[in-house]
Amino acid sequence: MAPPLFPAGTKAVVFDAYGTLFDVHSAVARHAARVGPEAARLSEIWRAKQLEYSWVLSLAGRYRSFWSLTEEALDHAFARCPGADVSVRPLLLDAYRSLDAYPEVRATLDGLRARGLRTAILSNGDPAMLGAAVTSADLAGSLDAVLSVEAARIFKTSPNAYHLAIEDLALNEDEIVFVSSNRWDVAGAAAFGFTAVWVNRLGLPDEYGDLAPHAVIAALDALLR
Ligand code: LAC
Repeated sequence: MAPPLFPAGTKAVVFDAYGTLFDVHSAVARHAARVGPEAARLSEIWRAKQLEYSWVLSLAGRYRSFWSLTEEALDHAFARCPGADVSVRPLLLDAYRSLDAYPEVRATLDGLRARGLRTAILSNGDPAMLGAAVTSADLAGSLDAVLSVEAARIFKTSPNAYHLAIEDLALNEDEIVFVSSNRWDVAGAAAFGFTAVWVNRLGLPDEYGDLAPHAVIAALDALLR
């Protein structure tokens, strides 16, 4: 039986990848000593620009792979942090392909499946980078589907991107719980019609008041309670 947090009739739980299952700051954290004192700032700019590029392209009707945006965003971040050691660039990109999963991820996915729910990723990441992240975190056996927006050639928060989950899982909006740590993604998922759960790991203030989450949790294992 589905956990009480979920509406009756829930059949699948679909997760955002970057920031939700995988810690996007773990790439820079792994090489922080070599990057230097601007490491945290570099990581913040890297992530912010990667997302900005995805939204700007989507609004302009363009698409390029999320990996190419990730590379470009890192170059911009280095340009903004002149003290950071740019020779670490290849190591950071390698680390981004094998980001750390948050510690509770596998047990949460397996626990949901043990209750008869299907589990999937729906991410802006392109298939190759998602495949690498899932394999390196050893999550392939815990997921029923790994879906990339590349199939729609538009990034979240476009409804066309969220629609891929419905198509692939052959379910209706109200049978899917969508889980993301990114509040903008929760807003997009709620606008689309999913039951959206916000994983607010950092205790950030709420946003997008008209597109509220169904529930707010501090870590993924709360989905099992
Ligand atoms: C994802 C990023 C954008 O879609 O969080 O996985």
